[in-house]
Amino acid sequence: AKVHYHDFVVQATPVKRLCKTRSAITVNGMYPGPTLEVNNGDTLVVNVVNRARYNVTIHWHGVRQIRTGWADGPEFVTQCPIRPGGTYTYRFTIQGQEGTLWWHAHSSWLRATVYGALIIHPKEGASYPFPKPKRETALLLGEWWNADPIDVVRQATRTGAAPNVSDAYTINGQPGDLYNCSSKETIIVPVDSGETNLLRVVNAALNQQLFLKVANHKLMVVGADASYVKPFITSVLMLGPGQTTDVLITADQPPARYYIAAQAYASAQGAPFDNTTTTAILEYKSAPCPAKGLTIKPVMPTMPAFNDTATATAFTTSFRSPRQVKVPTDIDHNLFFAVGLGLNNCPPGASNSSCQGPNGTRFAASMNNVSFVLPSSFSLLQAHQLRVPGVFTTDFPANPPVQFDYTGNVSQSLWQPVPGTKLYKLKYGETVQVVLQGTSIFTAENHPIHLHGYDFYILAEGFGNFNPSTDTAKFNLVDPPLRNTASLPVGGWTVIRFVADNPGVWLLHCHLDVHITWGLAMAFVVENGIGELQTLEEPPADLPLC
Ligand code: C2O
Repeated sequence: AKVHYHDFVVQATPVKRLCKTRSAITVNGMYPGPTLEVNNGDTLVVNVVNRARYNVTIHWHGVRQIRTGWADGPEFVTQCPIRPGGTYTYRFTIQGQEGTLWWHAHSSWLRATVYGALIIHPKEGASYPFPKPKRETALLLGEWWNADPIDVVRQATRTGAAPNVSDAYTINGQPGDLYNCSSKETIIVPVDSGETNLLRVVNAALNQQLFLKVANHKLMVVGADASYVKPFITSVLMLGPGQTTDVLITADQPPARYYIAAQAYASAQGAPFDNTTTTAILEYKSAPCPAKGLTIKPVMPTMPAFNDTATATAFTTSFRSPRQVKVPTDIDHNLFFAVGLGLNNCPPGASNSSCQGPNGTRFAASMNNVSFVLPSSFSLLQAHQLRVPGVFTTDFPANPPVQFDYTGNVSQSLWQPVPGTKLYKLKYGETVQVVLQGTSIFTAENHPIHLHGYDFYILAEGFGNFNPSTDTAKFNLVDPPLRNTASLPVGGWTVIRFVADNPGVWLLHCHLDVHITWGLAMAFVVENGIGELQTLEEPPADLPLC
């Protein structure tokens, strides 16, 4: 196994998109940032230097970080932020994961431009469980704002209103030729007729689930979130922010140019979303050249409607592990988390300008009615390790405080999220099942729910209220997929299961940044087990303090 050393300089960089130049925060001047390529079993050492005027941290999304929780990265969870002028070196080893992950800033909305791919090839000397592709291309889907995203979220936080939607979606940082001033930079993916290539698709967008299609081509899904899956064929992908999907594509169509297109899957009723389409071009090298002065438009796929939940669900429920797996059965913690939005009354005496949500309220989001508040004096992990009192409590509720018809039409007063820094405690090795139940207070919506430090099995998902007496029978205990981010369906539920075999403090949150901003998160604190192999490592000497 190798050790890979990288320097990440976080800095303000002029970036031109949609006919305008603005200063964007980048890594090494690149947007998206550098692609990291490793083999399963390798170690990464990434020295981050913060030359920007914002605090920053970097998260290695989906990396298990076994015993190395100090390198996980979420701000105020596993570390204090790297201040302007500061540095921090992340060190971790890839253990047993193969496929596509990614890295991103985990501080305010900086990940809008601070992200990149983390490609994990098979262990040295090993090969893919599918025929070796001729070429590999990472396609990172993102969102671009003409304004500084930090200003967008600050404005929303100040007023209590919903933040502005993005101005464009992007593929590898480029909006593509359906947007103004973008056609010259449209990403081209070259192919030779007949060859089979691997596309590594990442949804790095801030706030939007996305459909992706390639005109006239079928896609064979072979992996997701750095685990292999039982291959299946589809013509459309749907990824929530945080998720990755690896697909094989065979160039079996007449030589021409075909659009790779992505646009919103927007499940929230009536909520505004960016209704535009980003494109890249799959270009056969033998495609006929247009006559001088003419252009031939690439073939455009027919995209699903923005609210096509049937297509989204057909896709998300197609995943299986490649073979039978040992799903842990003796459940130590059977948890039920009600997940969703809410509204808070305007605090008495607040100025009108600070409550611009519906009817003078402020938006909030919660799990089990707790709206997560990050600490500021210590990171949660440090407070846990040093036993600092008063930073967090461990009374995160195992069940919602009130039971009701979660997906029905109920009064908003039933559910006014209460701010708190509440964690849920687990002993090393315990088995955890979480029923994630979406709620429809204010609006029902999909939530891409991401767990740090673990992969979990998705046992089942469905619509309406989870009913233990009938829905338990639907659990896939044979070959459920292993993921780090689950698409909780709109007005429905998802059941996940994992073994708490990684000590530390691990965030569980919605990967729509607007929902994290409103508090849609909680964290597990997993205690050390017995002996060195079950114990969190000592913190690095350069760990940033608050
Ligand atoms: Cu992709 Cu908490 O992160």
